[in-house]
Amino acid sequence: MLSAPNVAVVGVTGAVGEEFLAILAERNFPIGDLKLLASKRSAGKKIEYQGKIFTVEELTEDSFDGVDLALFSAGSSASKKYAPVASEVGATVVDNSSAFRMTDGIPLVVPEANADTIKGIELGKGGIIANPNCSTIIMLVPVTPLHRLAHVKRMVVSTYQSASGAGRAAMMELDSQTRQVLDGKPPECKLFPQQYAFNLFSHNSDIGEEGYNTEELKMVYETHKIWGDDSIKITATCVRVPVMRAHSESINLEFEDPIDEKIASETLKAAPGITVIDDRDNNRFPTPLDASGKDDVLVGRIRNDISREGDGACGLDIFVCGDQLRKGAALNAVQIAELLL
Ligand SMILES: NC(=O)c1ccc[n+]([C@@H]2O[C@H](COP(=O)([O-])OP(=O)(O)OC[C@H]3O[C@@H](n4cnc5c(N)ncnc54)[C@H](OP(=O)(O)O)[C@@H]3O)[C@@H](O)[C@H]2O)c1
Repeated sequence: MLSAPNVAVVGVTGAVGEEFLAILAERNFPIGDLKLLASKRSAGKKIEYQGKIFTVEELTEDSFDGVDLALFSAGSSASKKYAPVASEVGATVVDNSSAFRMTDGIPLVVPEANADTIKGIELGKGGIIANPNCSTIIMLVPVTPLHRLAHVKRMVVSTYQSASGAGRAAMMELDSQTRQVLDGKPPECKLFPQQYAFNLFSHNSDIGEEGYNTEELKMVYETHKIWGDDSIKITATCVRVPVMRAHSESINLEFEDPIDEKIASETLKAAPGITVIDDRDNNRFPTPLDASGKDDVLVGRIRNDISREGDGACGLDIFVCGDQLRKGAALNAVQIAELLL
């Protein structure tokens, strides 16, 4: 068992990469040697970690010699090319991209839901573990304990996704367009075809034949894989909103077994990784600003679904906010690495 693995952070100059370093430091993750990797564009850049200055290196096939843990967040093409190379030379990979999420034999892990699926994987002995899509993680942290209690039959989710979910370039687009609009100038659309500031639009991923975008389908199929049950009916609508950080989701749930808002609230309060903010008297519920920089997924608006009254079915509505750079990406991956330690 390794007590201080040699760690490589791949995509360290990106929105998730930066969060990786912050979380590793905050949680005092034991590190032997640290290697910071990004594209050729960033090679030579200096980054400070715990008072020491590190130089960013270009990601190449030779980057992983001596590395025990490789935390990848450099997009799916970089993962497809380099994660198998890293695994081959003994680095255990935790990958944030979509490259391997649905690959048979590769665990797709939310520690609060299916930590048991990484049994047998050891740091420094290779292997790839996939981190789910950020919207899936933020949904499953609160929905899994309810599912364990009353078995979800059907789930309808609508997302309100922030700019940082699409990386640094999207954050810059929201920032610069907001300034341009407030200055009375026409907003420049560089990344997204639609105006982003003071607007919202359907998620910017590809649309398939059935009319769902890939982000929506990830929420469906990744949930099936994580829960090990593809009979659960799930439909999703994913929307990008002009919020800088933290995704929000409105989730309607139908259950097999009896459950009500009171039991759901108690269950959520007792579950790991969740803070309940559900103050009906003061109309105070989770917001993305509350969730930004926090580890927990915030849950509120916990209420019985009145449309199910009288038809014998149990339904609930909840509203959740989670920092998708942290729990939706870097924190979830570091928690997986901690399980491996
Ligand atoms: N943002 C989120 O909330 C979130 C959540 C879950 C998962 N993810 C996933 O995490 C990954 C990174 O997302 P992000 O939001 O951090 O994106 P980002 O801000 O655009 O950063 C991308 C990072 O990847 C590096 N990179 C890109 N192409 C590379 C290549 N060919 N070789 C080496 N490094 C390369 C970039 O390096 P340079 O700076 O040198 O270009 C940068 O460090 C994506 O797969 C994304 O789907 C993101």
